[in-house]
This record gives sequence, structure tokens and C-alpha cells, in this order.
Amino acid sequence: MTQLPGLLDTEAIRKDFPILDRLVHDGKKLVYLDNAATSQTPRQVLDVLSEYYEVHNANVHRGVHVLAEEATALYEGARDKVAAFINAPSRDEVIFTKNASESLNLVANMLGWADEPYRVDSDTEIVITEMEHHSNIVPWQLLSQRTGAKLKWFGLTDDGRLDLSNIEEIITEKTKVVSFVLVSNILGTVNPVEAIVRRAQQVGALVVIDASQAAPHMTMDVQALQADFVAFTGHKMCGPTGIGVLWGRQELLEDLPPFLGGGEMIETVSMHSSTYAPAPHKFEAGTPPIAQAVGLGAAVDYLTSIGMDNIARHEHAVTEYAVRRLLEVPELRIIGPTTAEDRGAAISFTLGDIHPHDVGQVLDEQGIAVRVGHHCARPVCLRYGIPATTRASFYLYSTPAEVDALVEGLEHVRNFFG
Ligand code: ALA
Repeated sequence: MTQLPGLLDTEAIRKDFPILDRLVHDGKKLVYLDNAATSQTPRQVLDVLSEYYEVHNANVHRGVHVLAEEATALYEGARDKVAAFINAPSRDEVIFTKNASESLNLVANMLGWADEPYRVDSDTEIVITEMEHHSNIVPWQLLSQRTGAKLKWFGLTDDGRLDLSNIEEIITEKTKVVSFVLVSNILGTVNPVEAIVRRAQQVGALVVIDASQAAPHMTMDVQALQADFVAFTGHKMCGPTGIGVLWGRQELLEDLPPFLGGGEMIETVSMHSSTYAPAPHKFEAGTPPIAQAVGLGAAVDYLTSIGMDNIARHEHAVTEYAVRRLLEVPELRIIGPTTAEDRGAAISFTLGDIHPHDVGQVLDEQGIAVRVGHHCARPVCLRYGIPATTRASFYLYSTPAEVDALVEGLEHVRNFFG
């Protein structure tokens, strides 16, 4: 078995994930390499979820009975855990949403309805990048269409990094908000946060960071990032689906208007007008995803018990090995950085002129799960002149043996298509 420095004890870790023992396609061992799409869920989280429904299930913040109090304590306890996980200065800065897309849409809509000094209008500019997931493009396009604000973006270099050579022309005195991804879901690139934040701060623009592919994989410190908002999602970090997070700086959350109206986000309501509860409740209208938040809290406990720095070291070792082995496959082209430096554990590639959907299907027949397509980042495919990619993405339970299985699988794909 290939041993690499920095690897976690995957034999022990994999015992926590029952699904990894699954056989598919008539007894083939599952090789799950689609972690950037969704991660698997450990027993520790599954147990908390079933205990929540078996023992504590009730609505939160509303009841006086035992179950309602327990559910509220668990839900708010999950907020504490998430706040500590990202080093938030205050638990009130953690807003629970349904996913990272909702978190990013929430920011765009807060700004869309804001007064000065946050107002986005036809005299202002919004800056994103060409490597964004659609969830960090479309909300800003909608805001730009609604307000007349100009949408600008950083382009990409040939090796899959942000081209910041014209940073002073892209981020200007007119820029109101700069929103960018910390780790690209398609290219794997880790972006230079500091340089972008420094320029945004020079011109007084707000900074929004999409950390969907970062929070599961590295230590998150929202204070060190110096952003104004950070969005991520639970299901990519061992948590359940249906739970996302928006962290925002307290004074902004106090100043900015709510987006969704409804129960529990109010202070008082009359037939003429309403006043709002303080953040985070101002931004959590209606019954929130309670069990999902509790599950995310358990996922945070699980990841913390292993250690985010240990997870990052493990993934770096697997990624470095994967990049090296993949580059040995004839006709394989990595779309994104071809070194393990400043790159995350998602590796996109093309294989000669075999369509990625065909690559994915033949790999699947061998039990190897990857994602194919434009990965909700179609502008990246347009930039590199390709219709789609095949993407393998790793997590704390991924092994060098799975990388070997992928490489063997790709040999099989090449033979299959002659
Ligand atoms: N954003 C997820 C991915 O990259 C779904 O696959």
C-alpha cells in the first residue's frame, strides 16, 4: 500500500462512514471521489440526527414545553459550535440558511434593499471572478440587473489562477462589493485572499467569500480572512444536506435589512408595519432547518476531533500524489494548477477527446464515482475552450489506493474508447 507523509489513519476513519463499505455494480468496491459535490456522513452525525428525531424533535424558540426547550438548546448549541469552528467573534454573526447558494443570495439581497452607505445602484460596481460557481455569479447578475450596477470580474490565467494583474482597474472607488471563491470547485485553485481583501479595503468595498470548498478542508478563521461575509454549506463537511451558513460582521448584520419576512424574524408586527429581531434571527424567517443545524454541529465536532490541520495535511498528500499520477496518464490534461501548491483537493481534467460524460460512465461501471460536466462553473469551461471536465475530489477518508484505482480506471477508459 502506498504510504505518504501526513496521511491520516484512513483505516480507522473509514469505519466511521458506513457508506464507504458499499458495493456497486455487481459487487464492485465503491471508490467515492465526488466529495466536492457532497461528502459522506459519519456515524457520529447519523446518530445525532436520529437521536434528535427520536428524542428531542420540536419547533424552536416558540414552545414552553420540554421538547421545545431541548430542540432550541440543541439548535442554538449548533450555532455556538459553528461560531467556534470559524473563530467568529460572536455567535450572533452565524446565520443558518439552506445552503451556500442561499447564503450568497441572502447577501446580494441584503445589499439590494440597503440604504446608504451600502446601497448598490447604477453608479456602483460589483466585482466577482471568472472561476465562480454559478451561485456566486447569478445572484450578482440579478442584483446588477435590478440596480443598474456594473458587474465586473477577474479573468483567469492559463494555469487556472486568478489574473490579478489589473486589480486596480477591476476594483475601483466605485466598487461596492467584491465576492470571490476561496477554493475553486472546478479548478481546485486556492485564491490569494489577502491581496484581494487589501485592495477592496482600500476602496471601502465589502468582501464576500464563498468558502464552500474551503470550510470542509482547512482551518477557517473569519477574523484572519478579514472578510465581511463568508458563506459555506454543511453537506460538503460531513453534515446533512439542507443546512448552510452565512457568517457576517455584526455591525453589518445590524444595519442591513432582512430579505425573507415571516415568523421569528420579527420583534413586533402590526397591520401597518413590523420591527425586526436582532441578528441572526432577523435573517432566519420561518421554521429553520433544525435537525440539519444540529447535524452540522455534530459534523463540526467530528471534524474538530480529527483536527482541521490534520485533514488539510492528509488531503494535501493525497492531492499531490493524485496530480503526479494523473499527469502520467497519456493525453490527460489537468484543468487548473498542476502542482499541489495553493490547490485544494478537487482535480478536473480532460482525457484526449473522450467526452467527460463517457469517462464518468465507464469509471462508474468500475465503481468509481466522479463528477462530470461544467460543475456549475460554466464560464471556466468557456474560458478553457472545453465543454466539460471529469472531476475527482478527495476528503479525509480518501486513500492513495483510491487514486491508483482512478488511474487504472482511466487506462480502462482509454482502452475502451480505443
Ligand atoms: N457545488 C457542488 C460541486 O461542485 C455541487 O459539485
